[in-house]
Amino acid sequence: MPHHPLTDSHGRRVDYLRLSVIDRCNLRCSYCMPAEGMRFAPRRELLTDDDILFVLQEAAALGFTRLRITGGEPLLRPGLAQLVARITTETPFDAPALTTNGLLLAEQAEALAAAGLSRVNVSIDSLRPDRYAVITRNGLIDKVWRGIEAATAAGLGPIHINTVLLEGFNEDEVEGWLALARSNPFTVRFLELMPVGEGAELTRHGRFANLSAMRDRLVATHQLVPCASDGFGPARTWQQPGATGSVGFITPLSHGYCDSCTRFRLTAVGELRACLADDRQVSVREAVLGRDRAALREGFVEAARTKIVGHAWNVDSVTRTGMSELGG
Ligand code: 5AD
Ligand code: SF4
Repeated sequence: MPHHPLTDSHGRRVDYLRLSVIDRCNLRCSYCMPAEGMRFAPRRELLTDDDILFVLQEAAALGFTRLRITGGEPLLRPGLAQLVARITTETPFDAPALTTNGLLLAEQAEALAAAGLSRVNVSIDSLRPDRYAVITRNGLIDKVWRGIEAATAAGLGPIHINTVLLEGFNEDEVEGWLALARSNPFTVRFLELMPVGEGAELTRHGRFANLSAMRDRLVATHQLVPCASDGFGPARTWQQPGATGSVGFITPLSHGYCDSCTRFRLTAVGELRACLADDRQVSVREAVLGRDRAALREGFVEAARTKIVGHAWNVDSVTRTGMSELGG
């Protein structure tokens, strides 16, 4: 048991940390980043592996039990597999998960699996190579599928695929995704566009697709049956009769799940964010660099105090910080 389990001001136990290990990315997804002019933290300012381990020790003492590694694109961080190996051997987080765009997965899957990574979420916003190239601004989808194959072969499956559905762009691909999940052991998760960073711009341009409504329709037309709950997180998954894989709907806008949110985010330079929809953050950078355990703990407690229930997202009130800094 942790010495001081962290609860927020609404009594929610906070136990899930999303750790961004780098803010850079090798794609420029249009809901996430502008085509040009992104400013990234200088590499020397990223928390080092030692810094991260220091944070994780304290997070574990505060009751965090689950960890996901994010970016930017986390596979761009030099030596990620070594960091994962140190996390799994030197901290209580023995099965971290990873969210990636998959472009570099073919090269790294084996080392990551050997280092103790448990699961991988790969973001793919279209099944069509031409559309994938448009939304990511020149991404090559074949590389991503090769990455998924390599990850599966390395034992990192079943792979979760995240796909952001945009009105008038790719929401017509739902049938294709359902077919994929019928014959492959993937969990395909449809994500609602969130008004974070560039996502706000697309929302203003009418790209938001209401996935609660879509889910209700698909449950009826495709006889979707809810899978046994995985016990945490917003992803409720569903299965088609006789399917190998499953599908999920992440609906932060049309059907909020804030009541059960137990997560914190740590940016690559050492800022704690208690809520994706809230621009407030608590910097624990100085505490980490100075190895000041008490100050780090105070940072977590402070962030928990500010964690809001029920986000305030709408077209006018958006989160300014981009998702690539926050790690999705
Ligand atoms: N709205 C919805 N999803 C987003 N992601 C990044 N930005 C947004 C946004 N504005 C997704 C990525 C990735 C996950 C971590 O978050 O595509 O799959
Ligand atoms: Fe990169 Fe992910 Fe943002 Fe796309 S959504 S630009 S893959 S960080």
